Amino acid sequence: MIKVENVSFKYRDSNLILDNLSFNVYEGEILAIVGKNGSGKSTIGKLMSGIKQVKKGKIFIDDFDISKKENSDEIRNKIGIVFQNPENQIIFNNIKDELSFALKNLNEEEINIRIEQSLKQVEMSDFKNENLYNLSLGQKQRIMIAEILTKNPKYIILDEPTTMIDSLGKEKIYEIIKHLKSQGYTVICITNLADEILLADRILILDSGKIVAELKKDELIEKIDILKKYEIKVPTILEILGELKQKGIYFNIDEYKVTNLVSIISNLINQK
Ligand SMILES: Nc1ncnc2c1ncn2[C@@H]1O[C@H](COP(=O)(O)OP(=O)(O)O)[C@@H](O)[C@H]1O
Ligand SMILES: [Mg+2]
Repeated sequence: MIKVENVSFKYRDSNLILDNLSFNVYEGEILAIVGKNGSGKSTIGKLMSGIKQVKKGKIFIDDFDISKKENSDEIRNKIGIVFQNPENQIIFNNIKDELSFALKNLNEEEINIRIEQSLKQVEMSDFKNENLYNLSLGQKQRIMIAEILTKNPKYIILDEPTTMIDSLGKEKIYEIIKHLKSQGYTVICITNLADEILLADRILILDSGKIVAELKKDELIEKIDILKKYEIKVPTILEILGELKQKGIYFNIDEYKVTNLVSIISNLINQK
């Protein structure tokens, strides 16, 4: 579990960016952190992943206080973060070099095993010997996800992972996120995209550095107005389900997908 306790944060000379933030991240869940631009989403991601230092409040990762120096090795391997633009994160041309970057202390054999396993998780095994620069943005992003997987982490933070990626590439990454959850990883998805909100088990809405709402996936249909209030784009499928519900037609579907809805409706029509 990750515990964020009363965290406030300012950049040098900035206003208060995070204002006494507290929340937990539970093992095995997909947690979405949403909120309009500038609400502090990336900042909390950077604090949880140790890129920025917590000065006020505490963050515990599996009871390890991340502000304690003696915990830094442990934490480095427990959590990883991937950002919006893979091109800003790539260091090497060669995929093997890129993926072994975080593994300096391991022997050759172990490094190779970790690389193979990580590439498999993101369905990029066939590209092992490719030059990174020849890949599409979506494929590059999958390599960035593989790179954090090489550390065998428990927690994965994805900060707007598909914002720059075309729709086919997005779908592939959504599949990978669901696959990672099925493998027991805990995923924190920072996002503004409707489709990514629908991947989550739980949604935290951040506004001006404060958590203003926490929603469970199955409450979403009833709470569309809360998303709208905080200027979060409402997934079309939720709008449709919301309208149907007001007319007394209630669909409880796990996967809020238009294709599912179409098949449910056509089954209903066939039964009549
Ligand atoms: N390095 C920085 N120095 C000063 N202010 C920053 C810095 N990075 C972000 N900010 C400010 O912090 C606020 C929150 O930013 P951020 O966490 O990136 O929000 P989000 O990811 O929700 O768009 C914004 O007002 C932004 O301008
Ligand atoms: Mg951001």
